[in-house]
Amino acid sequence: MKITTKPELDLTADLIIIGFFEEDANHSKPFPELASELSGAIKQKLFSKKFGEIYSTKLKDKKLLVLGLGKKKELDAEKIRRLFGKAVSGTKSAKLESFSSNLAEKLKGNAPVNETDLGRSAAEGLLLSNYNFTKYLSKEKLENKKAVTEAILQWTAVPKLFQEGLGVGRIIAEATNFTRDLVNEPANVVNSVYLENAAKKIAAKHPSQLQLKVLNQAELEKLGMNALLGVNAGSANPAKLLILEYKGSSGKPVALVGKGVTFDSGGYNLKPTKYIEEMKDDMSGAGAVLGTIKAAAELGLKKHLIGVMPLCENMVNGAAQKPGDIVKAYNGKTIEIGNTDAEGRLILADALAYVEDKYQPEIIIDLATLTGACIVALGYYSAGLMGKDEKLLEEIKTAGEDSGDRAWILPFYEDYQDWMDGSISDLNNISTKGKGFEAGSITGGVFLSKFVDKARWAHLDLSGAFWPISHEYLDKGATGSGVRIMIYYLLNN
Ligand code: BES
Ligand code: MN
Ligand code: ZN
Repeated sequence: MKITTKPELDLTADLIIIGFFEEDANHSKPFPELASELSGAIKQKLFSKKFGEIYSTKLKDKKLLVLGLGKKKELDAEKIRRLFGKAVSGTKSAKLESFSSNLAEKLKGNAPVNETDLGRSAAEGLLLSNYNFTKYLSKEKLENKKAVTEAILQWTAVPKLFQEGLGVGRIIAEATNFTRDLVNEPANVVNSVYLENAAKKIAAKHPSQLQLKVLNQAELEKLGMNALLGVNAGSANPAKLLILEYKGSSGKPVALVGKGVTFDSGGYNLKPTKYIEEMKDDMSGAGAVLGTIKAAAELGLKKHLIGVMPLCENMVNGAAQKPGDIVKAYNGKTIEIGNTDAEGRLILADALAYVEDKYQPEIIIDLATLTGACIVALGYYSAGLMGKDEKLLEEIKTAGEDSGDRAWILPFYEDYQDWMDGSISDLNNISTKGKGFEAGSITGGVFLSKFVDKARWAHLDLSGAFWPISHEYLDKGATGSGVRIMIYYLLNN
């Protein structure tokens, strides 16, 4: 979608969208000819100017949407994203392809965001809302799902900072949509080889800053990454560890480690119907790491990043891992497989220990669709965040609030720290205390913590990243969660 700015509303666009705050007493701007109709509609309670409300009318022969902007003092970056998201979804549902709106100039100065951040939020709302995963639809079905081709934003004297913000927001939103594509693609397309090629393409676009290293079966065996190899044992696809390094500075690196299970059947602890269908999304963490590195390179962030992606598929056959098996991880710790479906923590164990050993990162953040329990606890509007470094957790939580890609900190009490201890091995991959199911997201995090030694570390449980719902700018399916929170974290810190 093209995003252009013009000093006046462009009446040649397919659709005109104007906004009013609840405080606006006067409805004669920008169209005096609509003032009495609007005041009448408000009196008759057909339209209230509440946040996100839409009133549909006409300006001569042109379709026009009036958008409620809510109360001025409640406006923030996330509301701005949602309003621009509404503009796009309103255009899509009218089956039109372009719109011109006064939203940008109308919102300026009314939220605690500067002109750059207004531009960034606008572009994010517009482009995330315009996302469609339509590549498998035949022409007829595609007709109802057309994307918007142009958003024309009116601003009398548009500031340069707003334009720059639009550019930053576009990079972030397009990287998020890139991740959404990877996650929405089915598992018969996205396997470890596909993700390796996706990483190769990104690296090839920024040859001076990005370097890709790929560890395959033989090296993984030599390095003793038996936790990763054990999960992949029943798969027809190869296990891999991708290391995508971005050198935007020479400082100690921040490592981003993403779970890349391209399909999670559960293994011999097979997932039942209603739980197994969505498990192509189990590489959302790896997808988010790829999207984050892509955006970091395009933004030219002055950061040293190591993107680590353990890739595998949790399947069943005669060679597959069995409950009760014991494997030795990269750091030498032994793990009993209490449940083959708790596989994410196994592949992350090797990846975390490896990146700490080889790259000495100052900070490690892992992103993973680790536990169904996280969806039970938090639903879809927030990821689960845990660790022992309070400062790091607060910084990530703030990035979540700023970006709209939220994370909520779960307690990581000392009391939980031995809940993953094994009886005949160092660790078990499921909880060995209580009744076995309590605090499932936290005990998953506790397991991961045993594979990080010195680095400051945080774990982000993204299990709610694949939506059966939608909101103003995110549709059903992959949300690309992880990309925005990480980019905002890197921009802020
Ligand atoms: N990939 C799943 C977690 C998941 C569930 C992500 C639903 C997204 C939506 C993970 O590998 C898993 O199966 N976890 C188990 C852990 C349990 C066996 C300790 C779970 O949540 O049931
Ligand atoms: Mn699983
Ligand atoms: Zn999984």
